[in-house]
Amino acid sequence: MELFSEDNSTQVVQQRNAACKDPRTRRILDVITAHLHAIVRELEPTRAEWEQAIAFLTRTGQMCSDKRQEFILLSDTLGVSMLVDAISHRREGGGTESTVLGPFYVPGAQRMPLGASISKDGEGEPMLVAGRVLDRAGRPIADATLDVWQAAPNGFYDTQDPQQTAFNLRGVFATGADGRYRFTTVRPSSYPIPDDGPVGEMLKGAGRHPYRPAHIHFIVTAPGFRPIVTHLFMAGDRYLDSDAVFGVKESLVVTPSRIDDAERARAVGVTTPFWEIAFDFVLAVRATERPCRAPVASRLGFP
Ligand code: BEZ
Ligand code: FE
Repeated sequence: MELFSEDNSTQVVQQRNAACKDPRTRRILDVITAHLHAIVRELEPTRAEWEQAIAFLTRTGQMCSDKRQEFILLSDTLGVSMLVDAISHRREGGGTESTVLGPFYVPGAQRMPLGASISKDGEGEPMLVAGRVLDRAGRPIADATLDVWQAAPNGFYDTQDPQQTAFNLRGVFATGADGRYRFTTVRPSSYPIPDDGPVGEMLKGAGRHPYRPAHIHFIVTAPGFRPIVTHLFMAGDRYLDSDAVFGVKESLVVTPSRIDDAERARAVGVTTPFWEIAFDFVLAVRATERPCRAPVASRLGFP
């Protein structure tokens, strides 16, 4: 019989888990045990510090509701969500890069005709967003779906702001036979992530700001292709290199062009001056041998 001691703590706990029948669960338990014990050996926390850590995690759980997921926010701000994303992208390979889903996605936005505006109040600087959805060989994908959402220029999503109509700045579009999509919106601005909870305390304690650079969210799907969860970021934003959730990738930064052409503005249904961004999304074929990002996919209701 080997009793627990400071020297053998990791092995004793791992041996206790050895009867675990599922090999993946056993590996997860072994690795978590090894890393947690290594952290404690390295930091040698006092009992008071241990209690502080438990209280922080407790407050994080208590902050969670059907409207707020503080643990995901913690994962995002510690870079864990984007590390999982980077590993998934390396393994699944190819196509437009992905980034965090974020907590503000709402399923069930209205299907809109190509060219429609997702702004219900027109508050802000008009912007045209257009491009194609392509396969990796550059062929257009017809009938691909783009689920789009963004914060208003005041930095709030409709779900956070009683002044906005439900589903403001959200819409679903389908590409035509030529793979093209097009919609109008208002230029997004940078905004702070919710920082009135434990994650906000952590950011403050670390001397970090809570801002995300201006972006538009997209989930792009097409039958037979892997869904992509991504953003387009606006070039020139002051927070591009210090995103609170580490979500920025160079390939997702687009430069809005300022257009003063009244005839074009009329043709696309906006006023001058307006901003224009162009971006082609590239989808990789869905691998049959491995389910694609099953947890995110099932959370979003994909098969
Ligand atoms: C967002 O972009 O909506 C978001 C992403 C991660 C954390 C908070 C907000
Ligand atoms: Fe966002």
